[in-house]
Amino acid sequence: MKAILLAGGKGTRLRPLTLNTPKPVVPIFDRAFLHYQIERLHQIPEIDEVILSLNYQPRRIEEVFGAGEGTGVRLRYVVEPSPLGTGGAIRYAAQGITDTIVVFNGDVMTDVDLPALVARHRDARARATIVLTPVYNPTAYGLVETSPDGHVTRFLEKPAAHEITCNTINAGIYVLEPETFDRIPKDVNYSIERAYFPSLVERGETFVSHIHHGYWIDIGTPEKYLQVHRDMFDGKFAGGLFTTADRTRPVVSPEARIDAGAVLEGPCFIDAGAHIKPGATIGPYAVIGRGCVVEEGARVSGAILWPNTRVGESATVDGSLVGRGCHVGRFARLGPTVMLGDKTSLTDFTQA
Ligand code: GDD
Ligand code: MG
Repeated sequence: MKAILLAGGKGTRLRPLTLNTPKPVVPIFDRAFLHYQIERLHQIPEIDEVILSLNYQPRRIEEVFGAGEGTGVRLRYVVEPSPLGTGGAIRYAAQGITDTIVVFNGDVMTDVDLPALVARHRDARARATIVLTPVYNPTAYGLVETSPDGHVTRFLEKPAAHEITCNTINAGIYVLEPETFDRIPKDVNYSIERAYFPSLVERGETFVSHIHHGYWIDIGTPEKYLQVHRDMFDGKFAGGLFTTADRTRPVVSPEARIDAGAVLEGPCFIDAGAHIKPGATIGPYAVIGRGCVVEEGARVSGAILWPNTRVGESATVDGSLVGRGCHVGRFARLGPTVMLGDKTSLTDFTQA
């Protein structure tokens, strides 16, 4: 069995962070996002290859994962000649595959039970099986209506407020039979959500759902990107670094340098090569990336610093997202809605 990870989106809602770092490899704590999805796919032992469907900055993604060393699975990269949309990308990536395929949107973090999903697909002898999850407001997602026995009866992508009829949405995880891909036109932009799924319903094909009540989040906006870190600190999602450890205490790499007189307030995470100087305060809910330096008297809380950023003496960074290699000047104050792209340099006393 093969898995396809749809990892070709531009991540526009996470700009400027995604200008140099495509969304599928934005760091979640100390590792690229897709690591968590690949880790989850290990639940299905039949999966012998994971195909990364790429489009935007494919080289940057290949650089992170190589041939899959360190992920425990064989990886293959398929780069579309131009963005083909979610449906077109799946068809393009699935060329030559006849066996059942598991598909993941490359930006959802979830503890969905994948073996149960595959079992549901097989038991129903379905052509397609989709994971649904309940949300408070479906307008940003694909609304999916089902019959009492779990057959999909309607799929409506990005419904308007007056079109909302239920709270179950497309979680972006599917099991699909490639024989149904012949309806996807070749080499044009084609949406699996707006065209393929509605066509399955129209033609009365066996299209069933698997409801997931556990953890699920789409990391594609700044709020959700911060939220997933908070949730992992709070123990709502386990993965990567955070499996069993007590997360209320600071988690500090043995290769980080914490000077005497620095204060760490849990939960927080400090990665290898970081240096926290005397009188600096880190946390709660702060993530300090590899090689960052936090100078004397500075305070970082509820914020995420990507690697190699320097926070100057007595500066405050609260709830902000700070890209790689930034410099925050002395006595600067950054608040919750601030996002800094890579290599931003802020002069001393900046307020933002
Ligand atoms: N290869 C490739 N080519 N990948 C693409 C393309 C493309 O042209 N367009 C989008 N993707 C990838 C994105 O990288 C992302 O991982 C996934 O497909 C979904 O695209 P998003 O842009 O994140 O869509 P969305 O979040 O607005 O909506 C989708 O996800 C929701 C769940 O998070 C839809 O599938 C909704 O129905 C769903 O509810
Ligand atoms: Mg998304």
